[in-house]
Amino acid sequence: MSFRRTRKNYVKSSIQTKDLVKYVGEGLLTSEGEKWKKQRKMMQPAFHKKQLQNLLSGMQSTIVEEYKKIKPEQAIDVYPILNDLAFQTVVQSLFTTAARPDEMERLQYITEANQRVLVRELRQPYLSWWFKVSGTLRKHTKLSEEARDILKRIVNERKDSGARYDDSLDMLLETRYDDGKGMTEAQLIDEILIIFTAGHETTSNALTFTFQLLAKHPQWQEKIVEESLELEDSDLMHRVSSSKICQQVLEEAMRLYPPAYFIDRVNVTTDSFNGMTFKPGCNLLFSVYEIHRHPNCGRMQKPLNRNGLQMVGYPIRHNIFRLGLDHANVLVIILRCLK
Ligand code: HEM
Repeated sequence: MSFRRTRKNYVKSSIQTKDLVKYVGEGLLTSEGEKWKKQRKMMQPAFHKKQLQNLLSGMQSTIVEEYKKIKPEQAIDVYPILNDLAFQTVVQSLFTTAARPDEMERLQYITEANQRVLVRELRQPYLSWWFKVSGTLRKHTKLSEEARDILKRIVNERKDSGARYDDSLDMLLETRYDDGKGMTEAQLIDEILIIFTAGHETTSNALTFTFQLLAKHPQWQEKIVEESLELEDSDLMHRVSSSKICQQVLEEAMRLYPPAYFIDRVNVTTDSFNGMTFKPGCNLLFSVYEIHRHPNCGRMQKPLNRNGLQMVGYPIRHNIFRLGLDHANVLVIILRCLK
Protein backbone atom coordinates (compact mmCIF):
# COMPACT_ATOMS: atom_id res chain seq x y z
CA MET A 1 0.00 0.00 0.00
CA SER A 2 1.30 3.44 -0.74
CA PHE A 3 0.53 6.64 1.11
CA ARG A 4 -3.19 6.88 1.47
CA ARG A 5 -4.78 9.07 -1.07
CA THR A 6 -6.64 11.02 1.51
CA ARG A 7 -5.57 14.35 2.88
CA LYS A 8 -7.57 13.62 6.01
CA ASN A 9 -4.85 11.23 7.16
CA TYR A 10 -2.31 14.05 7.32
CA VAL A 11 -2.11 17.13 9.48
CA LYS A 12 0.45 19.92 9.52
CA SER A 13 3.51 19.26 11.64
CA SER A 14 4.61 21.23 14.67
CA ILE A 15 7.03 23.10 12.38
CA GLN A 16 4.04 25.01 11.05
CA THR A 17 1.63 24.84 13.96
CA LYS A 18 4.09 25.60 16.77
CA ASP A 19 7.57 26.68 15.63
CA LEU A 20 6.37 29.13 12.98
CA VAL A 21 3.37 30.26 15.05
CA LYS A 22 5.77 31.79 17.60
CA TYR A 23 6.79 34.37 15.02
CA VAL A 24 3.80 34.88 12.74
CA GLY A 25 0.83 33.76 14.81
CA GLU A 26 -2.04 31.54 13.77
CA GLY A 27 -3.34 32.18 10.26
CA LEU A 28 -3.82 30.44 6.92
CA LEU A 29 -0.39 28.83 6.66
CA THR A 30 -0.10 27.81 10.31
CA SER A 31 -3.64 26.75 11.25
CA GLU A 32 -5.42 23.44 10.93
CA GLY A 33 -8.92 21.98 10.60
CA GLU A 34 -11.95 24.19 11.07
CA LYS A 35 -9.94 27.33 11.80
CA TRP A 36 -7.97 26.90 8.54
CA LYS A 37 -11.20 26.27 6.58
CA LYS A 38 -12.83 29.38 7.98
CA GLN A 39 -9.81 31.58 7.25
CA ARG A 40 -9.35 30.10 3.80
CA LYS A 41 -12.95 30.71 2.79
CA MET A 42 -12.82 34.25 4.03
CA MET A 43 -9.47 35.16 2.44
CA GLN A 44 -10.07 33.44 -0.91
CA PRO A 45 -11.35 36.64 -2.59
CA ALA A 46 -8.01 38.36 -1.85
CA PHE A 47 -6.38 36.06 -4.38
CA HIS A 48 -9.10 36.33 -7.01
CA LYS A 49 -7.99 37.37 -10.50
CA LYS A 50 -10.08 40.54 -10.32
CA GLN A 51 -8.42 41.59 -7.09
CA LEU A 52 -4.99 40.82 -8.54
CA GLN A 53 -5.85 42.97 -11.54
CA ASN A 54 -6.21 45.97 -9.20
CA LEU A 55 -2.69 45.36 -7.91
CA LEU A 56 -0.90 44.86 -11.21
CA SER A 57 0.08 48.38 -12.17
CA GLY A 58 1.42 49.11 -8.66
CA MET A 59 3.41 45.90 -8.80
CA GLN A 60 4.75 46.84 -12.22
CA SER A 61 6.08 50.21 -11.02
CA THR A 62 7.69 48.55 -7.97
CA ILE A 63 9.38 46.01 -10.22
CA VAL A 64 10.59 48.72 -12.63
CA GLU A 65 12.10 50.67 -9.69
CA GLU A 66 13.90 47.60 -8.36
CA TYR A 67 15.17 46.62 -11.83
CA LYS A 68 16.96 49.96 -12.04
CA LYS A 69 19.40 48.55 -9.46
CA ILE A 70 20.58 46.00 -12.02
CA LYS A 71 23.49 47.50 -13.92
CA PRO A 72 23.92 46.08 -17.41
CA GLU A 73 27.21 44.56 -18.52
CA GLN A 74 28.31 43.88 -14.95
CA ALA A 75 28.50 40.64 -13.02
CA ILE A 76 26.29 41.09 -9.98
CA ASP A 77 24.66 38.97 -7.32
CA VAL A 78 21.00 39.25 -8.27
CA TYR A 79 19.67 37.60 -5.11
CA PRO A 80 19.66 40.72 -2.86
CA ILE A 81 17.94 42.71 -5.61
CA LEU A 82 15.32 40.06 -6.29
CA ASN A 83 14.86 39.61 -2.56
CA ASP A 84 14.06 43.31 -2.19
CA LEU A 85 11.92 43.19 -5.28
CA ALA A 86 9.82 40.33 -3.86
CA PHE A 87 9.45 42.09 -0.51
CA GLN A 88 8.56 45.46 -2.01
CA THR A 89 6.02 43.82 -4.32
CA VAL A 90 4.28 42.22 -1.34
CA VAL A 91 4.37 45.60 0.45
CA GLN A 92 2.93 47.32 -2.61
CA SER A 93 0.13 44.79 -3.03
CA LEU A 94 -0.79 44.97 0.66
CA PHE A 95 -0.43 48.66 1.42
CA THR A 96 0.06 50.48 -1.92
CA THR A 97 1.77 53.77 -1.20
CA ALA A 98 0.56 54.01 2.38
CA ALA A 99 3.62 52.29 3.85
CA ARG A 100 6.49 54.26 5.39
CA PRO A 101 9.88 53.23 3.95
CA ASP A 102 11.62 53.17 7.38
CA GLU A 103 8.92 50.90 8.82
CA MET A 104 8.99 48.63 5.79
CA GLU A 105 12.75 48.34 6.06
CA ARG A 106 12.35 47.27 9.68
CA LEU A 107 9.59 44.83 8.75
CA GLN A 108 11.81 43.29 6.10
CA TYR A 109 14.67 42.99 8.59
CA ILE A 110 12.39 41.31 11.16
CA THR A 111 10.79 38.91 8.66
CA GLU A 112 14.20 37.79 7.42
CA ALA A 113 15.80 37.60 10.88
CA ASN A 114 12.92 35.49 12.20
CA GLN A 115 13.04 33.20 9.17
CA ARG A 116 16.74 32.67 9.71
CA VAL A 117 16.35 31.82 13.38
CA LEU A 118 13.46 29.45 12.61
CA VAL A 119 15.65 27.59 10.12
CA ARG A 120 18.37 27.34 12.79
CA GLU A 121 15.87 25.99 15.30
CA LEU A 122 14.77 23.33 12.80
CA ARG A 123 18.24 22.36 11.67
CA GLN A 124 19.79 22.35 15.11
CA PRO A 125 17.06 20.96 17.42
CA TYR A 126 19.82 19.79 19.81
CA LEU A 127 20.55 23.47 20.48
CA SER A 128 16.99 24.30 21.54
CA TRP A 129 18.16 24.70 25.17
CA TRP A 130 20.80 27.17 24.01
CA PHE A 131 18.31 29.23 21.98
CA LYS A 132 16.30 29.56 25.19
CA VAL A 133 19.06 30.35 27.71
CA SER A 134 21.00 32.63 25.36
CA GLY A 135 17.92 34.82 24.94
CA THR A 136 17.73 34.18 21.16
CA LEU A 137 14.07 33.14 21.32
CA ARG A 138 13.17 36.08 23.55
CA LYS A 139 14.94 38.49 21.19
CA HIS A 140 13.07 37.17 18.15
CA THR A 141 9.71 37.03 19.88
CA LYS A 142 10.28 40.69 20.77
CA LEU A 143 11.07 41.43 17.13
CA SER A 144 7.75 39.83 16.17
CA GLU A 145 6.01 42.11 18.65
CA GLU A 146 7.70 45.08 17.06
CA ALA A 147 6.49 43.93 13.62
CA ARG A 148 2.96 43.61 15.02
CA ASP A 149 3.13 47.17 16.37
CA ILE A 150 4.18 48.49 12.97
CA LEU A 151 1.33 46.65 11.28
CA LYS A 152 -1.18 47.78 13.91
CA ARG A 153 -0.24 51.39 13.26
CA ILE A 154 -0.71 50.95 9.50
CA VAL A 155 -4.05 49.18 9.93
CA ASN A 156 -5.38 51.79 12.36
CA GLU A 157 -4.19 54.66 10.21
CA ARG A 158 -6.02 53.13 7.26
CA LYS A 159 -9.19 52.61 9.26
CA ASP A 160 -9.10 56.18 10.63
CA SER A 161 -8.38 57.79 7.27
CA GLY A 162 -11.36 56.22 5.55
CA ALA A 163 -9.28 56.31 2.31
CA ARG A 164 -9.60 53.52 -0.24
CA TYR A 165 -6.66 52.10 -2.14
CA ASP A 166 -8.19 48.88 -3.50
CA ASP A 167 -5.17 47.01 -2.21
CA SER A 168 -5.01 43.75 -0.27
CA LEU A 169 -5.31 45.57 3.06
CA ASP A 170 -8.63 47.14 2.00
CA MET A 171 -9.80 43.72 0.91
CA LEU A 172 -8.73 42.05 4.17
CA LEU A 173 -10.45 44.78 6.19
CA GLU A 174 -13.67 44.42 4.22
CA THR A 175 -13.96 40.66 3.88
CA ARG A 176 -16.43 38.89 6.19
CA TYR A 177 -16.95 35.48 7.78
CA ASP A 178 -20.26 33.69 7.19
CA ASP A 179 -21.70 35.36 10.31
CA GLY A 180 -21.05 38.81 8.82
CA LYS A 181 -18.20 39.66 11.19
CA GLY A 182 -14.76 40.79 10.04
CA MET A 183 -11.39 39.59 11.35
CA THR A 184 -10.22 40.76 14.75
CA GLU A 185 -7.23 43.07 14.67
CA ALA A 186 -4.97 40.31 16.05
CA GLN A 187 -6.12 37.84 13.37
CA LEU A 188 -5.64 40.39 10.61
CA ILE A 189 -2.08 41.13 11.79
CA ASP A 190 -1.29 37.39 11.90
CA GLU A 191 -2.51 36.97 8.31
CA ILE A 192 -0.43 39.92 7.13
CA LEU A 193 2.69 38.57 8.86
CA ILE A 194 2.03 35.21 7.21
CA ILE A 195 1.66 36.78 3.77
CA PHE A 196 5.03 38.51 4.26
CA THR A 197 6.68 35.28 5.40
CA ALA A 198 5.06 32.98 2.83
CA GLY A 199 5.29 35.34 -0.13
CA HIS A 200 8.69 36.88 0.24
CA GLU A 201 11.49 34.30 0.26
CA THR A 202 9.63 31.79 -1.94
CA THR A 203 9.23 34.40 -4.66
CA SER A 204 12.78 35.73 -4.41
CA ASN A 205 14.23 32.21 -4.58
CA ALA A 206 12.07 31.36 -7.59
CA LEU A 207 13.16 34.53 -9.39
CA THR A 208 16.82 34.03 -8.57
CA PHE A 209 16.89 30.48 -9.92
CA THR A 210 14.99 31.64 -13.00
CA PHE A 211 17.58 34.37 -13.61
CA GLN A 212 20.41 31.91 -13.15
CA LEU A 213 18.89 29.50 -15.67
CA LEU A 214 18.18 32.30 -18.12
CA ALA A 215 21.77 33.51 -17.83
CA LYS A 216 22.91 30.04 -18.83
CA HIS A 217 20.34 29.72 -21.60
CA PRO A 218 20.19 33.12 -23.33
CA GLN A 219 18.07 31.73 -26.18
CA TRP A 220 15.15 31.68 -23.72
CA GLN A 221 15.80 35.29 -22.79
CA GLU A 222 15.39 36.13 -26.47
CA LYS A 223 12.13 34.20 -26.69
CA ILE A 224 10.75 36.01 -23.63
CA VAL A 225 11.66 39.38 -25.14
CA GLU A 226 10.06 38.44 -28.49
CA GLU A 227 6.89 37.37 -26.73
CA SER A 228 6.80 40.50 -24.65
CA LEU A 229 7.19 42.70 -27.75
CA GLU A 230 4.33 40.86 -29.45
CA LEU A 231 2.07 41.61 -26.50
CA GLU A 232 3.29 45.16 -25.97
CA ASP A 233 0.08 46.87 -27.06
CA SER A 234 -2.33 44.90 -24.92
CA ASP A 235 -3.34 45.74 -21.35
CA LEU A 236 -1.24 44.56 -18.46
CA MET A 237 -3.49 41.74 -17.26
CA HIS A 238 -3.72 40.35 -20.79
CA ARG A 239 0.06 40.58 -21.16
CA VAL A 240 0.64 38.73 -17.90
CA SER A 241 -1.87 35.98 -18.61
CA SER A 242 -0.77 35.59 -22.26
CA SER A 243 2.98 35.44 -21.62
CA LYS A 244 3.12 31.71 -22.14
CA ILE A 245 6.86 31.38 -22.71
CA CYS A 246 7.62 33.46 -19.65
CA GLN A 247 5.25 31.33 -17.60
CA GLN A 248 6.79 28.10 -18.90
CA VAL A 249 10.28 29.33 -18.05
CA LEU A 250 9.15 30.15 -14.49
CA GLU A 251 7.47 26.75 -14.17
CA GLU A 252 10.54 24.96 -15.44
CA ALA A 253 12.78 26.88 -13.02
CA MET A 254 10.45 25.94 -10.16
CA ARG A 255 10.35 22.32 -11.31
CA LEU A 256 14.14 22.19 -11.12
CA TYR A 257 14.55 24.34 -8.04
CA PRO A 258 11.29 24.34 -6.11
CA PRO A 259 11.45 27.22 -3.60
CA ALA A 260 9.42 25.19 -1.10
CA TYR A 261 11.56 22.10 -1.57
CA PHE A 262 9.78 19.94 0.93
CA ILE A 263 6.33 19.73 2.44
CA ASP A 264 5.84 18.21 5.85
CA ARG A 265 2.86 16.43 7.29
CA VAL A 266 2.12 14.12 10.23
CA ASN A 267 0.10 10.93 9.68
CA VAL A 268 -2.98 10.54 11.87
CA THR A 269 -3.35 6.76 11.48
CA THR A 270 -0.77 4.07 10.70
CA ASP A 271 0.56 4.47 7.19
CA SER A 272 2.94 2.59 4.95
CA PHE A 273 5.11 3.22 1.95
CA ASN A 274 7.32 0.88 0.03
CA GLY A 275 7.52 -1.75 2.73
CA MET A 276 8.00 0.78 5.54
CA THR A 277 5.36 1.23 8.22
CA PHE A 278 4.77 4.55 9.93
CA LYS A 279 3.05 4.62 13.26
CA PRO A 280 0.65 7.52 13.82
CA GLY A 281 2.47 10.76 14.60
CA CYS A 282 5.48 10.40 12.28
CA ASN A 283 6.94 13.55 10.78
CA LEU A 284 6.89 12.85 7.03
CA LEU A 285 8.87 15.13 4.78
CA PHE A 286 7.87 14.96 1.13
CA SER A 287 10.74 16.09 -1.02
CA VAL A 288 9.27 18.24 -3.78
CA TYR A 289 12.77 18.55 -5.21
CA GLU A 290 13.10 14.77 -5.63
CA ILE A 291 9.54 14.30 -6.89
CA HIS A 292 10.08 16.91 -9.59
CA ARG A 293 13.14 15.02 -10.84
CA HIS A 294 12.14 11.44 -10.29
CA PRO A 295 12.13 9.30 -13.46
CA ASN A 296 8.94 7.54 -12.36
CA CYS A 297 7.02 10.77 -11.97
CA GLY A 298 6.05 10.70 -15.62
CA ARG A 299 4.22 14.00 -15.83
CA MET A 300 7.13 15.85 -14.28
CA GLN A 301 9.62 14.37 -16.71
CA LYS A 302 7.75 15.28 -19.89
CA PRO A 303 8.73 18.50 -21.60
CA LEU A 304 6.43 21.21 -20.36
CA ASN A 305 5.62 22.33 -23.87
CA ARG A 306 6.24 21.70 -27.51
CA ASN A 307 9.14 24.15 -27.51
CA GLY A 308 11.24 21.59 -25.67
CA LEU A 309 11.65 23.98 -22.77
CA GLN A 310 12.79 21.20 -20.50
CA MET A 311 16.23 21.66 -22.02
CA VAL A 312 16.57 24.73 -19.86
CA GLY A 313 17.19 22.39 -16.95
CA TYR A 314 20.26 20.41 -16.06
CA PRO A 315 20.33 16.66 -16.60
CA ILE A 316 19.98 15.05 -13.20
CA ARG A 317 23.44 13.49 -13.09
CA HIS A 318 25.21 16.78 -13.71
CA ASN A 319 23.24 18.79 -11.27
CA ILE A 320 25.38 20.31 -8.56
CA PHE A 321 22.36 20.63 -6.31
CA ARG A 322 21.65 16.92 -6.43
CA LEU A 323 21.39 15.65 -2.89
CA GLY A 324 22.68 12.15 -3.49
CA LEU A 325 19.31 10.53 -2.83
CA ASP A 326 19.42 8.48 -5.95
CA HIS A 327 17.40 5.44 -4.91
CA ALA A 328 14.79 4.33 -7.36
CA ASN A 329 11.88 5.51 -5.32
CA VAL A 330 12.94 8.15 -2.89
CA LEU A 331 9.82 10.24 -2.58
CA VAL A 332 10.02 10.61 1.11
CA ILE A 333 12.66 11.49 3.62
CA ILE A 334 11.73 10.40 7.07
CA LEU A 335 13.32 12.77 9.54
CA ARG A 336 12.23 11.24 12.75
CA CYS A 337 9.53 8.97 14.07
CA LEU A 338 7.98 10.40 17.15
CA LYS A 339 6.80 7.05 18.44
C1 HEM B 1 7.09 31.03 -6.04
C2 HEM B 1 6.43 31.47 -5.02
C3 HEM B 1 5.70 30.59 -4.01
C4 HEM B 1 5.84 29.26 -3.73
C5 HEM B 1 6.80 28.27 -4.36
C6 HEM B 1 4.88 28.95 -2.68
C7 HEM B 1 4.71 27.69 -2.13
C8 HEM B 1 3.74 27.37 -1.20
C9 HEM B 1 3.49 26.03 -0.68
C10 HEM B 1 4.24 24.76 -1.09
C11 HEM B 1 2.48 26.13 0.20
C12 HEM B 1 1.84 24.96 0.97
C13 HEM B 1 2.52 24.82 2.33
C14 HEM B 1 1.91 23.68 3.14
O1 HEM B 1 0.68 23.53 3.16
O2 HEM B 1 2.67 22.96 3.82
C15 HEM B 1 2.08 27.53 0.26
C16 HEM B 1 1.08 28.03 1.04
C17 HEM B 1 0.78 29.37 1.17
N1 HEM B 1 1.35 30.41 0.47
FE1 HEM B 1 2.74 30.26 -0.96
N2 HEM B 1 4.21 30.10 -2.35
C18 HEM B 1 4.68 31.12 -3.13
C19 HEM B 1 4.28 32.45 -3.12
C20 HEM B 1 3.37 32.96 -2.25
C21 HEM B 1 2.97 34.36 -2.20
C22 HEM B 1 3.50 35.45 -3.13
C23 HEM B 1 2.08 34.48 -1.17
C24 HEM B 1 1.34 35.68 -0.67
C25 HEM B 1 1.41 36.88 -1.18
C26 HEM B 1 1.90 33.15 -0.60
C27 HEM B 1 1.07 32.87 0.46
C28 HEM B 1 0.78 31.59 0.89
C29 HEM B 1 -0.22 31.31 1.92
C30 HEM B 1 -1.11 32.34 2.64
C31 HEM B 1 -0.23 29.90 2.08
C32 HEM B 1 -1.15 29.08 2.98
C33 HEM B 1 -2.35 28.68 2.13
C34 HEM B 1 -3.32 27.77 2.84
O3 HEM B 1 -2.91 26.96 3.69
O4 HEM B 1 -4.50 27.85 2.53
N3 HEM B 1 2.69 32.27 -1.28
N4 HEM B 1 2.87 28.25 -0.61
